Order: sequence, then structure tokens, then C-alpha cells
Amino acid sequence: MSRITLVQVGMGTVGGETIAQVIANRNRWWVDFGLDVRIGAVIGRGGALVTTEPDGLADELLRGLVHSRRAGTALREAAAGHELVEAPEAIALLINQGPVIVMDAAAGEETAALDARALASGAGVVLSNKAPLALPRENPIGAELWASAGPRGHLRYEATCGAGLPVISTLRTLIDGGDAPVENTGALSGTLGAIFTDLGNGANFSEAVLAAKEKGFTEPDPRDDLSGLDVARKALILARTIERRVNLDEIAVENLVPEELRETSVAEFLARVSELDDEWSRRAETARAAGATLKYVATVPADGPIAVGVREVPTSSLLGALQGPENIVVMRTTRYHENPLTVVGPGAGAAVTAAGMTGDMLALGTLLMSRG
Ligand SMILES: NC(=O)c1ccc[n+]([C@@H]2O[C@H](COP(=O)([O-])OP(=O)(O)OC[C@H]3O[C@@H](n4cnc5c(N)ncnc54)[C@H](OP(=O)(O)O)[C@@H]3O)[C@@H](O)[C@H]2O)c1
Repeated sequence: MSRITLVQVGMGTVGGETIAQVIANRNRWWVDFGLDVRIGAVIGRGGALVTTEPDGLADELLRGLVHSRRAGTALREAAAGHELVEAPEAIALLINQGPVIVMDAAAGEETAALDARALASGAGVVLSNKAPLALPRENPIGAELWASAGPRGHLRYEATCGAGLPVISTLRTLIDGGDAPVENTGALSGTLGAIFTDLGNGANFSEAVLAAKEKGFTEPDPRDDLSGLDVARKALILARTIERRVNLDEIAVENLVPEELRETSVAEFLARVSELDDEWSRRAETARAAGATLKYVATVPADGPIAVGVREVPTSSLLGALQGPENIVVMRTTRYHENPLTVVGPGAGAAVTAAGMTGDMLALGTLLMSRG
């Protein structure tokens, strides 16, 4: 049997696009990979819509659900007339019909238990959601997920770090081939990349933050980006990929939001963010005078402290030349020492992130098929 059944968790920006890419490319995957990919269930906060029909959920129904979610309608209302079940039940119903892959494009830790349960029942899991992989090592669910993240396991997570860029797969290929990572450095936030590019071009910090918000690069509350937590989670995922046994709280994180602006409303923060302008203009000017520019950088060595924060980077370096919301990961290893291996390109956006997930899904689907 060559049928792969997908369970789509989260139908937001990334999840909705993943569904669209599956519908658009299913025939190609059948011809090129011999994989008959169908979507058997979609899971939202309110429950799961599942079918055991051979073709999975109908394309028209799926498109309608994605459209409704984009218009702000929850799955429960959008799927009115269809019975919803609990999320684990949806997976249990499908798992007896052949290989299942859970596509976790939700946001937050809540889906971690579902992912672990799916793995335990023999399903594969593909993540763009970073939070489950950032759980403390002592948390049994996090430990289970990472135990499945190696070459023999059934969990893939390319899209958690650099969206569709081949960051995790490249690191894995290097390690599997016997190379030894020395240090990964990178700019891993499109939002902070855009802000520091504008700052380097002479904008005030507040202008740069507001411009990033206007272009849709930031979270609704830009402090979620400026806190550095998202970058810290990516640094943690990179660290664990190179087999470092670390937790999030061991990473030094430079929070760009001063304490007095952390608890205010979003509106008040946006009104007062200009209070930070002088300090940032001074830092940018100091860097410029030294032939450098400011970037929010993650530093993940094979040994020693892991940190994410603002660094002065030579303007002439690849990292220093990075523009706008692009991401970069510079991988220095024993073999790639003088000239490190560098992956650069767009590190966010629905199309590339969903493509990262479907790429993982195809590799995992092929593996699951070969294992019968
Ligand atoms: N956007 C990007 O460019 C990008 C790039 C790389 C990685 N990511 C990661 O990919 C994930 C999805 O990003 P996004 O931009 O698509 O976010 P989003 O638009 O906010 O969508 C998140 C979706 O997950 C659903 N969800 C949240 N908690 C859930 C739960 N416990 N069970 C089931 N569904 C749940 C939400 O449901 P509701 O409809 O009820 O809100 C929503 O549909 C995030 O973890 C993000 O960090 C995003």
C-alpha cells in the first residue's frame, strides 16, 4: 500500500498553505515518489474533523475550512454539519489504515503531547511548531520527541529553523558523514533582520519597529519578536541537533524590551518605543564607525555558552551584508573550517515554510513506506 495519510494540526498561515500545497502537488508525488498522499484529518483548537474515506477529506471542504479560518472562523463553526472528535481519536481512527504523518503547524506547547502520542502509535511527525522541541529535557514528552528526531526516528523538523531553508537537513548530512560541528552562528529572525537593516540604514529604532509591524513581519505584539525568545528556541533546536544536552534557560538571551515596557499594553509600548531611539542610534553609529553593523545573532558552539543577542558584525561579512528579513546560518565544522558552509535566504513566509514541511513529509513518507 502506498497511501500516506496526513493529519494537519493548525490551519493558520503555514497550515493553510501546507494544505494548499498538498492539494496542488499530490499528483506529482504519486508519479515521482509513488506516494498517494491524502489529508485524513484536520485538527484545530476545538477538535478534529476526520474521515476514513479512501480519498481523505474532499479538496473543496479543505479549501473552505482554510478560507474560513483566514476569515477568523474557528474550525468548530467552519465545519458545522460535520461531527468533530477529540484530536487523539482522529489519529487512532486513521493509524490502522496505513502510514500516518502528523503535520504540526500549530503554535505553542499544547500539541506536544499529541505529537508524542502519534509517534508512540507508529505515526510520523513533521513540525514547523518550535515549542514542542523546546520543552525542558526533563519533560518526558520533550524527551520522547527528541528521541525520535534522529535518522532512525520518525520526527522531522526542518521548518522550525529558517523555515524552508535546508538548515537542519544540512547539519544532519554533515554529522551523518562524520563531520564535527565547531560552531553555528546565524541570524534566525526575519523580523529582527528587517529592524536592524533599517537601523543600519539610518532609521530610528522606533521607525524600524513600526515599519516591520506595518509590513506584517512582526507578531501582533512586536515584543514577542523583540524578546528574543523565538530566536532562543531556534538556537536551542540547533544546539540539540548537534547533540548538545541543553535547556532553554541555559541560553543567554538579550531581550530588547526594557523591563519598564514589558508589561504595558501593545498600544502603550508602540507609543513609547521611541524612548529607545537614542540608545539604539548611538549603538548603530558606534558599529558603523568600526566598519560594522548590528545584527541579532544566535551563537551555538559545540561547547561553551550559547547566546542570542545583538552583535557588531563586520559589514563586509556575509552575516553583516544580510538585508531585510533574510535568515542566515553559518556552519563551521572540522571539514568546513576556513570557509564555513553557509545557508542563506528567506527564513519566514507561508510558501517556503509549508514547502519545508512538505519536503520533510515526502522524506518521512518514503521511509515509512520502506518500513512497511
Ligand atoms: N509563519 C511563518 O513564516 C513561520 C515560519 C517558521 C515557523 N513557523 C511556526 O509555524 C507555526 C505556525 O505558524 P503560523 O504563522 O501558521 O501561525 P498561525 O497563523 O497563528 O496559525 C497557528 C494555527 O495553529 C492552531 N493552533 C494553535 N494551538 C493549537 C492547538 N493546541 N491545537 C490545534 N491547533 C492549534 C491555531 O488555531 P486557531 O485557528 O484556533 O487560532 C492556528 O490555526 C508556529 O509555531 C510558528 O512559530 C511559522
